Amino acid sequence: MKVELVPGVFWVGAIDWNIRDFHGYLTEAGSTYNAYLIVDDKITLIDTVKKEFVPEMMARIQEIAAPEDINYIVSNHVEMDHSGGLAETVHRVKPEKIFCSPRGRADLLRHFKETWPFEEVKTGSELSLGRRNLTFLETPMLHWPDSMMTYLKEEQVLFSSDAFGAHFASSRRFDDELPELPEGYSYQLKKYYANILMPMGTLISQLLKKVVELGLEFKMIAPDHGLIYRNPQPVLSAYQKWAAGTTEPKGLVIYDTMWHSTEMLAHAFVEGLIEGGAVAQLHHLRSTHYSNIVTEVLDAGLLLIGSPTLNNNMFPSVAEFLTYLKGLKPKNKAAMGFGSYGWSGQAVGLINKELEAMQLRLVHEGFQVKYIPDPEELAAAKALGAALAKEHLKR
Ligand code: FEO
Repeated sequence: MKVELVPGVFWVGAIDWNIRDFHGYLTEAGSTYNAYLIVDDKITLIDTVKKEFVPEMMARIQEIAAPEDINYIVSNHVEMDHSGGLAETVHRVKPEKIFCSPRGRADLLRHFKETWPFEEVKTGSELSLGRRNLTFLETPMLHWPDSMMTYLKEEQVLFSSDAFGAHFASSRRFDDELPELPEGYSYQLKKYYANILMPMGTLISQLLKKVVELGLEFKMIAPDHGLIYRNPQPVLSAYQKWAAGTTEPKGLVIYDTMWHSTEMLAHAFVEGLIEGGAVAQLHHLRSTHYSNIVTEVLDAGLLLIGSPTLNNNMFPSVAEFLTYLKGLKPKNKAAMGFGSYGWSGQAVGLINKELEAMQLRLVHEGFQVKYIPDPEELAAAKALGAALAKEHLKR
């Protein structure tokens, strides 16, 4: 069945119902690789799909036009979920030109080692397809150095590459096919932002401002993953909020444990946070995937990270989580380490060092107990949790 965004513009992507691991990110709802075909005097394909989905994309193209009749390909992004199918597509289509950013050209050459008919475009470059025109917008580091977006002027459709995307497999293609977004979609949109775009908050804020300055109006945003937005305002507002680093009065207790002592402290902190008026969550690092935890980190105002000391170090799962979190550059959060130890007790100090390296606000030197916490120590942890909630999680 043809999926038409506006007259003559079609979705020709692929649905990956089964993917559950996207370079380490848990994609429990699957994904889509969205590609778009513009039928004009110059038939233009915007992006391709992951390599193994090329037959699915070609079958969708075939319903609209012979793939060999495609004149132009636009490559908004080199990453292989969008360019993996480019080589096979180019060999079949033999396009007159492939439009990409200067960095995109260099990186596509590096990936494919092929001398295709590249044409570099920059912010503001225009391309006539006949009756309609494309304008390009470079968006370096959103989220790769090569990234760009493509705007179909006459129809006010923004092909936004990864931005505004969500890993979400569905038979639906548009946000408004039901009165509300499908159950779970808003979560996947947030999860995608947290895991892919959180480090780029400042760039996203700048981009959104630039869009206003340029007077670009969007009737539709067509990202490379998830649904196409015929009502872009909610997703634009959500991005504005996330990019600004806005937090909620929400405290997370994130921990691992050897013999349940750190776990006892974790529960005491959660009780304290609740008593202090916070929305609290408890996450055991071997029970909740780290990509789900950082989704909650995105708008949390306080992080309490717990670890026992193992071989003079923090627990490996805690180190893994902190490494992942550090790369995502969380901002506007208070934080503290805690844990139980038996011999030497280095874990809390090491956690605090990592939290400081992330430029989070360290709010306490850390809370630690030797072996099993006694009732007084648990009461102290609870009281500290309540105090931290009152002081750092303003409503
Ligand atoms: Fe969906 Fe950066 O690739």
